[in-house]
Amino acid sequence: MNITIRQEQINDYKTTEDIVKKAFANMKFSDQKEHELVSRLRNTNEFIPKLSLVAISNDTIIGHILLTKIQITNDKQTSESLALAPVSVLPEFQSKGIGKKLIQEALKKAKELHFNSVIVLGHPTYYPKFGFKKASLWGIKAPFEVPEESFMALELKENALTSNSGVVEYSSAFFE
Ligand SMILES: CC(C)(COP(=O)(O)OP(=O)(O)OC[C@H]1O[C@@H](n2cnc3c(N)ncnc32)[C@H](O)[C@@H]1OP(=O)(O)O)[C@@H](O)C(=O)NCCC(=O)NCCS
Repeated sequence: MNITIRQEQINDYKTTEDIVKKAFANMKFSDQKEHELVSRLRNTNEFIPKLSLVAISNDTIIGHILLTKIQITNDKQTSESLALAPVSVLPEFQSKGIGKKLIQEALKKAKELHFNSVIVLGHPTYYPKFGFKKASLWGIKAPFEVPEESFMALELKENALTSNSGVVEYSSAFFE
């Protein structure tokens, strides 16, 4: 299957939201509102158009990934990072490596844009494939209750998180 990954365009917004909705439709952990989250995030300062990517097969969007700005804050400092959320692949195209391509491309782009790190709340067996480790290893905590092994971080630059312990602050769009 020939898959292209490219930046999402304004014309894609409706289609992308439909893909996100369908991807999460049967997920037990989901509130089935991830497509609304994507829509809200696009209207915030935390949105980075270059880090909203779509996967295309036969001129059709079949997947999407979004990385948005977050901050990691402690008593002494605030540092910028990225949240990987959400990532979506149409059910009929899942487990064919498309999620992997989207994640790899998004991480590559984030590095090119000089971001230092990425945080994800996700399945602890999926994200380590991309180098993610428990965020608690760096003393990084979520602003809500999460299973420790599901809250993960990735350094895009060596030792980027070494002195970055703190609590993650997400865009307010995540809590609306
Ligand atoms: C998660 C998701 C984006 C992965 O995309 P994908 O194209 O199916 O993934 P890939 O083909 O690259 O990888 C597939 C592998 O990931 C595993 N996998 C997929 N979703 C997983 C999940 N939620 N938890 C753990 N493993 C998962 C599959 O079992 C498969 O493993 P295998 O290769 O050993 O068979 C896609 O399954 C999806 O859209 N799921 C619904 C939405 C969702 O849960 N998003 C992630 C939370 S933000």
